[in-house]
Amino acid sequence: MSIDLGLTAEGVYENRGSKMGEFVKIAKTSEVPAGTARSFVVENEVVAVFNLNNNYYALKDQCSHMDLPLSDGMLEDDVVTCAYHGAEFDIKTGEALCAPAYEPVESYEVRVDNDDIYISID
Ligand code: FES
Repeated sequence: MSIDLGLTAEGVYENRGSKMGEFVKIAKTSEVPAGTARSFVVENEVVAVFNLNNNYYALKDQCSHMDLPLSDGMLEDDVVTCAYHGAEFDIKTGEALCAPAYEPVESYEVRVDNDDIYISID
């Protein structure tokens, strides 16, 4: 299991909090290659950012089954399959699509400005 907590080589959190209106900068597009998910910490939330054909989606990085990271899962089309027990979620909505997860995970609105990814966190 690996989670990118945005740590620098010195072990200090990078600035992941630049704001653009109500949106918060979370990552550079280059940090999330197509077909992958990466995990980032922003404003005390651990967020999985998914790149589906260079469209970006963000979910709370916590499977609703046993709270393990969805960013470790397998992305296929707009569905992420949890790496731990196989629950599936719609990356666009957070909806749980099959057992053993029954509850959705929180999804965040995403905007991309140049090569910066922003999410809306309440
Ligand atoms: S923790 Fe995701 S399916 Fe169990």
